[in-house]
Amino acid sequence: MTQAQKGICAEPNLHALYLTLNVIDDDASTMRKKIAQILALFAHYDEEYYEAMVSGIVAIGTDYWYELYPRLIPQELSPFPITNSDDRNAPATPGDLFIQIKADRMDICHAIGAEVIQLLQPHVDLYEEVRGFRYLDGRDLTGFVDGTENPKGMRKFSVALVGDQDLDFTGGSYIHVQRYRHNMKKWQQLEVSEQEEIIGRTKADNIEFKSDNTAPFSHTIRTSLKDEYGNNREVLRQNMPYGDMTIQGLYCVSCAKSPQPFTEILTSRIVGDEEGNYDKFLDFTSAETGGAFFAPSINFIKQQAKE
Ligand code: HEM
Repeated sequence: MTQAQKGICAEPNLHALYLTLNVIDDDASTMRKKIAQILALFAHYDEEYYEAMVSGIVAIGTDYWYELYPRLIPQELSPFPITNSDDRNAPATPGDLFIQIKADRMDICHAIGAEVIQLLQPHVDLYEEVRGFRYLDGRDLTGFVDGTENPKGMRKFSVALVGDQDLDFTGGSYIHVQRYRHNMKKWQQLEVSEQEEIIGRTKADNIEFKSDNTAPFSHTIRTSLKDEYGNNREVLRQNMPYGDMTIQGLYCVSCAKSPQPFTEILTSRIVGDEEGNYDKFLDFTSAETGGAFFAPSINFIKQQAKE
């Protein structure tokens, strides 16, 4: 049976380490083997420290994919959908490999990260390293609970993983990553009721507004999309807050069986509807990075390492 990478549908954890790397040589055969070794590293730490709920994802940047696995291409592989409107931007930034390491212990995330970097030397440059942490009861640093409407149970798998429509890639996932930086000073100047109108939920108790009371520019309206038949256009979010006393934000990781829902959500937020209703939250936070990746199944990575 095809096995998906564990980090794609993992439950929320206390800590995460997100690594974005660029490959600086053209030794694809070695890299295919090393990627399989990263999976073995994840499995080893998961077994050794089972109480830490370790999980990982290795995802391949959509440009680098053609060098790494040129003979088999996921049907919907496409670059990051750069989108702009007025002063709202979704930039694309460099990234050949994206590695998500999650656990309930930061020391374990660190230990795995250090081994991954050692393993990949001298083939890569580290472009960005971000440490995510659980904040209070699963809140973003703006104070709102994040992840409530994420698909749950078996739905997670049907939303996040490629099914039988692309047989070589069953169990894989299209991953989009964006690091958002919040303007906390500006956000904190708002009344709580104004913040709630922008998000579309109450702040303290995390209650959804009734749909006729929700502003068309709210984050929840702009992100909860349906197709022409009324089916939800969903993604599974693996977001976590990051930051220190100087900068704060949300590291956003979206996993889906197709890149389309993410692209549609991004357009709905940045460009908005015919009346010009964009996601007003974007007046208080902005994307500083962006990358499109594909995380193939464990079977695919192991098989390709032999070739
Ligand atoms: C600054 C970055 C962001 C913050 C702080 C943020 C925060 C939130 C919060 C507080 C909610 C309501 C609770 C929940 O259902 O999770 C939410 C919902 C949601 N967000 Fe975001 N979000 C951010 C970026 C994004 C991005 C980049 C996407 C694109 C995939 C996205 C997609 C969604 C979706 C699909 C929902 C569920 C809407 C619903 O069905 O009600 N968000 N977000």
